[in-house]
Amino acid sequence: MSSSERIIIFDTTLRDGEQSPSVSLNVEEKLQIGRQLKKLNIDVIEAGFPVASSGDFESVRRISQELKGLQVAALARANEKDIDTAWEALKEGENPRIHTFIATSDIHLQYKLRKTREQVLDMARSAVEYAVKFTGNVEFSAEDASRSDLDFLCRVFEAVIDAGATTVNFPDTVGYAVPHNFGRMIRYVMEHTPNIHKAVLSVHCHNDLGLATANVLEAIENGARQVECTINGIGERAGNAAMEEVVMAIRTRRDVLPFDTAICSQHIMTVSRLVSMLTGMVVQANKAIVGANAFAHESGIHQDGVLKERTTYEIIDPKDIGLSKGTLVLGKHSGRHALKARIEEIGYRLSDEEIHRVFTRFKSLADKKKEVYPEDIEALVAEEVLRIPDRYHLAYLYVAGGSGIKPTATVILKIDGNEVSGVSLGAGPIDAAYKAVAKLVKTESHLLGFAVNSITGGTDALGEVTVRLEEGSHVVTGHGTDPDIITASVMAYLNALNRLEHSKENAMHKRSVEL
Ligand code: KIV
Ligand code: ZN
Repeated sequence: MSSSERIIIFDTTLRDGEQSPSVSLNVEEKLQIGRQLKKLNIDVIEAGFPVASSGDFESVRRISQELKGLQVAALARANEKDIDTAWEALKEGENPRIHTFIATSDIHLQYKLRKTREQVLDMARSAVEYAVKFTGNVEFSAEDASRSDLDFLCRVFEAVIDAGATTVNFPDTVGYAVPHNFGRMIRYVMEHTPNIHKAVLSVHCHNDLGLATANVLEAIENGARQVECTINGIGERAGNAAMEEVVMAIRTRRDVLPFDTAICSQHIMTVSRLVSMLTGMVVQANKAIVGANAFAHESGIHQDGVLKERTTYEIIDPKDIGLSKGTLVLGKHSGRHALKARIEEIGYRLSDEEIHRVFTRFKSLADKKKEVYPEDIEALVAEEVLRIPDRYHLAYLYVAGGSGIKPTATVILKIDGNEVSGVSLGAGPIDAAYKAVAKLVKTESHLLGFAVNSITGGTDALGEVTVRLEEGSHVVTGHGTDPDIITASVMAYLNALNRLEHSKENAMHKRSVEL
């Protein structure tokens, strides 16, 4: 690494990211993402908010036990019960961090907390004093900092640093900041908090105005040395600053941004796809760095330029983020060992039984599709191994249709291990199949959205279907991939139905937590 100043990357995909509408990850899924975050060489992983649910508690505990060589953080409001619970979940970790927070803006004080500034200052100080009894690694966040009175904020930061906080975080909680002004705020805090040099100043930017990454870069220029971000920019409402954007902006523009991170960027695409698959949050095609079109050149002039010299139209080498576009990895004659080696190259270590399951899917895919790309293999691994154990499985699907024929679907499902079958007519083959599934599962949900995408090019590409379902207050997303678009659609529907079960179960265990 050059002499550039090092920026600490604090990933909150598993906490703020999981607060995205309709996202709910189970412990196993969080662990899978945590393992990939470790491969990226993230400095701090915020693994959850332990007091919020038993699932969050367990995720923080398991991630702390398993992932070494990085810091694991857990969120806690500024009270003893939250901090006790966070510590209980973190305590077996190698380098645990308690992350406690309270809002500091007058609007939050008046309407949400109904407290005076002096009361909030006391609560912040007391929370940090309490947390440092467990660990010297304590972060304090001033929620809604960007709409807070800056002199009050500096007093709060001074008090919590005196109490032992080693990181103070400046969140733009509602994504209200604009870059030049945000930079000035950070500079003001750096210059008016007398003991700021004893702590790392962090920023946490939401993307409500589409400015999160720009705000982060301004903040770094003005003294922030930790960035809180998420993979694919997921998070509350419009999401958080995207890790891949911040890291690649810094790396690509070293000439004007003399900073660096420890991120191993070649793992970015794998983590991005995993997070998208497990959360059900599809990455928009034109998303910077990780969108399907981020390196696609449509116009002839651009294609010609890239063929002559890549840098004419590409500011990042796709290989630097792990994009192996165009690399054929396996075909139908490839064996189990070749598949296992490729899976390990992508970054997953699977048991023999899991390899067997992926191999079976791979063989059937390779029969239908001549060329199998790393992206296809990742999709199979995510579907077969990484996601929630399913209650509903597709055992058989037959669809009849065509011009002049009323589409009919015959479906056999395994529900809790028992086979059930049904037939239905529909407006089209997918509609017929969905009606048959809905009858068998006896679901009360209804479809909010349905989208089809192709994972790689060509008519034999894996089709990727995403559906959104709603039942009462539960909204979930499901994913399915298959070269046959109708099969992919049914798999996506079943995945969403499985997630719905999971979401309903989770809601029963979720404690009511007001932020
Ligand atoms: O957006 C926010 O203010 C947060 C804090 C809890 C750090 O997520
Ligand atoms: Zn946030």
